[in-house]
Amino acid sequence: MQVTFLLNGETVEIETSPTHTLLDWLREDRTLCGTKEGCNEGDCGACTVMVTDHDGPKALNACILFLPQLHGKAVRTVEGIAGPDGALHPVQKAMIDHHGSQCGFCTPGFVVSMAVAHANGRRDHDDQLAGNLCRCTGYAPIVRAADAAANKPVPDWMQDTPEHQDAAFAPSDLDTLAKWYAAHPDATLIAGATDVGLWVTKQLRDLEEVAFLYNCKELAKVVETKTTFRFGAAVTMTQVLETVSGHYPSYAEMIRRYGSVQVRNAATIGGNIANGSPIGDNPPALIALGATLHLRNGDETREIPLEDFFLSYGKQDRAPGELVTAITVPKGVDALRCYKLSKRYDQDISAVCGCFNITVTDGSVSDARIAFGGMAGIPQRAKAVEAALVGKPWTEETVTAALPAFAEDFTPMSDMRASADYRLTAATNMLQRYFADIAGQRVDLLQVTA
Ligand SMILES: Cc1cc2nc3c(=O)[nH]c(=O)nc-3n(C[C@H](O)[C@H](O)[C@H](O)COP(=O)(O)OP(=O)(O)OC[C@H]3O[C@@H](n4cnc5c(N)ncnc54)[C@H](O)[C@@H]3O)c2cc1C
Ligand code: FES
Ligand code: FES
Repeated sequence: MQVTFLLNGETVEIETSPTHTLLDWLREDRTLCGTKEGCNEGDCGACTVMVTDHDGPKALNACILFLPQLHGKAVRTVEGIAGPDGALHPVQKAMIDHHGSQCGFCTPGFVVSMAVAHANGRRDHDDQLAGNLCRCTGYAPIVRAADAAANKPVPDWMQDTPEHQDAAFAPSDLDTLAKWYAAHPDATLIAGATDVGLWVTKQLRDLEEVAFLYNCKELAKVVETKTTFRFGAAVTMTQVLETVSGHYPSYAEMIRRYGSVQVRNAATIGGNIANGSPIGDNPPALIALGATLHLRNGDETREIPLEDFFLSYGKQDRAPGELVTAITVPKGVDALRCYKLSKRYDQDISAVCGCFNITVTDGSVSDARIAFGGMAGIPQRAKAVEAALVGKPWTEETVTAALPAFAEDFTPMSDMRASADYRLTAATNMLQRYFADIAGQRVDLLQVTA
C-alpha cells in the first residue's frame, strides 16, 4: 500500500503492508526511538503520538496504529514536540521545572499527551493523562507541570496542515465499501484497530485482505434529530462521549472510563459492537436504551434491535460480507444509569457493566430495560428481573423482591476479572444502587464519603 503523511512537518511517502505499526516503523525504519514501547497493546501510553486530521490534533497509541491509517494525516512524535531550533515546548519546560520525570521511560508519552491536551486547550489533566502510566515519578508533579503550561501559547511549530488524500484501501463512500466487502467476505474490516491491533501485536496474525473504515464519510457521521441520535459505525468513542454527555450523562460518565483518551480517539462504536465481546461497554447501555442496529450487505440493508445481534458467545447475527453501518439511539426521558465495575477505576475493562433504564408512571414501573455485560457469553437483558418489576409500585419492597430473579437471568463465570459469586452479588447490588441513585442519593464511588 502506498501511504503519504506528514512526519514532524516533513512529507513521507512509503510502501507498506496493511498491518505495519507506526511504532515499529518509527523505531526500526526511522530510528526515531523517543517513542517508547511499553505494553504494545494500548495500555500504557509510552508510545503516544499526536495525529492531526481534519478534526484537529489527537493523541493516539502508535503501537496499535497501522501505517495506512495515517494516509493524508500529520504525525508528530516526541522528537517533533520541541522546536526545530531545539526550543522546548511549554510542557517540556514545565516537566523540567516541576520535576515530572525520574527514570524517564514514560516521559515522551506524557509529553506528547500533554502537548496535545495543551493544543486543544484541555485542563482536565487527570482524564487527559489517564492513558499514560508512570511507575516512579508519581502523578502530582506531572499534573502540576501540565497545569503550569496550560496558559502558555501553543508554539507555531505545532501547527500541522495535513492534506486529505483518497486511497483504494480506505473507501470514502459507503456504496463502494459495501460492494467491495460483499465481494470479499473473508477480508478484515479495520475501524479503530484497538482490537485488530492486538491480533497483530499479540497474536502475531497476518491479515492479508483488509479495508480501512476511517475515510468513509457516512460511517463517520453523527446525525441528531428531535427523537434520535444516529451514530455511524466508525464514529469514535470520543465523539460518542461528546454527543451523549448532554442527554445521557451517566452513559457519558461510563465512556469517560472507557480505555483512555488515546483508546477513545481510535475505538469506534461499530467496532465495539461488531467484535461481539461479552464485556464491551457500549452494548449494555445501548440495549438498555432500546437501540437499533443497521447492517448492510452489498445493496441489501436491514435493521434489528441491538439485543438480537448477539446470538451466543462469539456468534452474531451478521452474514459474511455484511457490515455494521450505524446505531440509532432513541432520545427518551433520561432514566439511564450505567455502572461499570472494574479492578482499576480508570482505563480498565469491565468485570461487570450494568445499565438500567426504568420508566415509572404514576408511581408504578411501566417499562424496564436492564442489560449487563460480563454476566453471560453475550451482552444480555435481565428479563426475569424486568418482569419482576413491571407493573409493581416503584418501592424498596419491589426492588428487594426482584433481587432473587438475577439468579434466574444469569449464571456468570469466574475468570481473572471476578468470580461468579462476586459478579452475581455485584449485579444484584446494582439494582439497589439504581433505586438509591434515582432517588437522588449519592452512590458514585467517588462521591461516597465516610
Ligand atoms: C487499552 C485498551 C482499553 C480498552 N478499554 C475498553 C473499555 O474500557 N471498554 C470496552 O468496551 N472496550 C475497551 N477496549 C476494547 C476496544 O477498544 C473496543 O472493543 C473497540 O470499540 C473496538 O473498536 P475498533 O474501532 O477499535 O475496532 P477494530 O479493532 O477496528 O475492529 C474490531 C472488530 O470489529 C470488526 N468491525 C469493525 N467495524 C466494523 C463494521 N462497521 N462492520 C463490521 N465489522 C466491523 C473488525 O473487523 C474486527 O473484527 C479497550 C481496548 C484497548 C486496546
Ligand atoms: S506501548 Fe503501551 S500503549 Fe503503546
Ligand atoms: S518516570 Fe519512570 S515510569 Fe514515569
